[in-house]
Formats: sequence, structure tokens, C-alpha cells
Amino acid sequence: MKHVVKNVVKNVVKNVEKQSMSARSQLPNAESRFPNSVHHSMNAIETHQLHRRFRRTVAVKALDLAIPQGIIYGLIGPDGAGKTTTLRMLAGVLKPSSGQARVLGQDVVRDPEALRPHLGYMPQHFSLYGDLSVLENLRFFAEIYGVPRKERAARIQRLLRFAQLEAFAQRPAAKLSGGMKKKLGLACALVHSPRILLLDEPTNGVDPVSRREFWDILGELYLQGVTILITTPYMDEAERCNLVGLMFQGTIIQQGEPEALRRLAPGELLVLYAPDLLRVEQLLARFPDILSLQVYGDRLHLFVADAQASRPRLEAFLRERGVAFTALYQDEPRLEEAFVHLIRQAQARQAAA
Ligand SMILES: Nc1ncnc2c1ncn2[C@@H]1O[C@H](COP(=O)(O)OP(=O)(O)OP(=O)(O)O)[C@@H](O)[C@H]1O
Ligand SMILES: [Mg+2]
Repeated sequence: MKHVVKNVVKNVVKNVEKQSMSARSQLPNAESRFPNSVHHSMNAIETHQLHRRFRRTVAVKALDLAIPQGIIYGLIGPDGAGKTTTLRMLAGVLKPSSGQARVLGQDVVRDPEALRPHLGYMPQHFSLYGDLSVLENLRFFAEIYGVPRKERAARIQRLLRFAQLEAFAQRPAAKLSGGMKKKLGLACALVHSPRILLLDEPTNGVDPVSRREFWDILGELYLQGVTILITTPYMDEAERCNLVGLMFQGTIIQQGEPEALRRLAPGELLVLYAPDLLRVEQLLARFPDILSLQVYGDRLHLFVADAQASRPRLEAFLRERGVAFTALYQDEPRLEEAFVHLIRQAQARQAAA
């Protein structure tokens, strides 16, 4: 272990020392960082016509991103949309096939090492050292990132407190709960106080309480002015972002504030609970008001132009056919419905092309 640490540290530290000077001269000064700096002129992350292919698969295609400093940007999209590939390129661990990517004004291809002190990256399948304790993991990453020796202890203590892991400092990482592991992963990505955080599904598979705690930490970082680019399969998390980009087949097909995106749902929403959902779904194919229908577990989400007008008609339609239902009410569409709709539209466009 020591041997591995030494080698990694030797290489990384050498590079870190070399680049931090050149990087600093091109970075905006710390005073220009402030919370909620949505209107700040310089983008923290920018890509222009970014492409990445793996043999025949085009993972990222003509991607243009412009992420202002100090915001939380949520990158969401179906499996294989290209989210991880995008983050890996921005983190400088994967070369683009073509196009440009800049982080803090710095080209990620030309000088990925220059960004390392300013960038925290938590990969989708990040790995901690299971046989090392929480504290030892943090020390390891502090060493890798070249955190000055005299600052390490204080910074690690702060992170332990921040991540609510103080009581578990001596526990081997392998013995932590899923949520604690994620928090430790985040703490490790933060050990060098980066200004940009790239988080790839950091809460996937974590229970709701731990997810909330994790987001409390992200909220703190946001207030400190850290720019966060996060991917998540959870729509409630996407709702917490300042800006959300919906990725499909390697590119952003829609971007906006959650509130604005929610309004892209195809009309007004009626929620219907019925014991025999399959039958209701088949029957509703003949109900003329419906613009779109989505199944969510034990209920149907029906989109119509005018919910108030359609609701009594729908009730009558179901009663006439002897179909039982337990509830039918109007609700506000969420981001999830809007996204399902937008992805379907994109798929239909593609099929027609
Ligand atoms: N190293 C690789 N070699 C070959 N193909 C790859 C590689 N990495 C990614 N891909 C392919 O590129 C596409 C995009 O993958 P990527 O992992 O970026 O998607 P994603 O949006 O992160 O998906 P998920 O939500 O499942 O994590 C997929 O078709 C994937 O199979
Ligand atoms: Mg991924």
C-alpha cells in the first residue's frame, strides 16, 4: 500500500507543482467567486462541439455546454446517454475524439494536470481503499492531491465533521454503510478544496435519509461558491439543481431551470389509480382527450389539454365500461413527466428520420 501511495504521490505531486503556477495566472481571482453567481460572466465549464466515440459507438456528440460559475448543474438522461463519458472528459481522464472542453478557462486536453488542484471528481464507480480506515483514506487522498502537510490534519477534521463521519474515523471503509461510503467518497474528492466538483451518480442506491444528508453537504458547498456538475437518476435531486440538462444519445436535447422544464410536460396532468391498470391502459387508447399516457408503478399519469373538462368525461367513460378505479385527481406535473415526454419525442423523431 505504502509503495503504491508513494509512486502515485510522486507523479501527481510533481505535476501539481508544475502546473499550479500556470493555472493560477489564468484563473479568475477568489474574490470573484460568490454564491448564486448565475450571472457571473465566466463559465466554469464550457464545451464546444465535443465528441467522443468508442469504435462504432458515438458516446458524446456535438456537445455544447456552458455552465456558469457557482451553480449546481444536473446532467440527467437515460442509461448510455453519455453522461459518464462527458464527466470523464471534463475531468481530464479521457481524451475527446474532437471538439473542445474548458474548465475554469483551461483546456482539459492541452493541460489536464493544470486543473487537477481545482477539480474534485467522484467517478460513477469510485473506489475507496476498503482495508484503510476512513481517516486513512482521507490522508491518502490528501497526500495524492498534494495538500500541504501542515494543513492536512485540520482539513481532514473539518471534512469528517462536514460529512458526519467523525464517529467512524477509525472504521475500515469496507465496513461503512452505503450512504457513509458515498459521503466518504465525496469528502475524499473535496480534500484539496476544489472549486469545481464533478459528481457522477454520487447517491445512486443510497437510502432517502442519506441522500438528503448528502444534499445538505452539496448545499453548503454551493454556498461556498463551488461549481457542481452532478449526474443523478433521481428526479427529486434534479429539481434541486439551478440548471438541468437532459442528455440523450450524446447531446443535450433540453436545458433549463427545473421550473421551466416542468412546464414542458405535454398538457395538464390527471392521476388515475385502478386495480387493473393494464386493462385501463388498453381502454384509454380509445379515449380521445388523452395527449400522452405514462405508467408509474400502481398509477397512470394521463396528460390532457384541460384537466377540469376531461375529468368528468373520463369518469363517465370508465363507469360505462364497468372499470373500477380508486382515485382520479389533477396534479402538478413534475420534472419526471416532462423528461419522459421529451425523451419519447426525441425517440420518435429519431425513428422518423
Ligand atoms: N470505454 C468504453 N468502451 C466502449 N464503449 C463505451 C465506453 N464507455 C462508454 N461507452 C459507451 O458509450 C455510451 C455512453 O456511455 P456512458 O457511460 O457515458 O453513459 P451514461 O449516460 O453515463 O449511462 P449510465 O446512466 O448507464 O451511467 C454507451 O453506449 C456506452 O456503452
Ligand atoms: Mg454513467
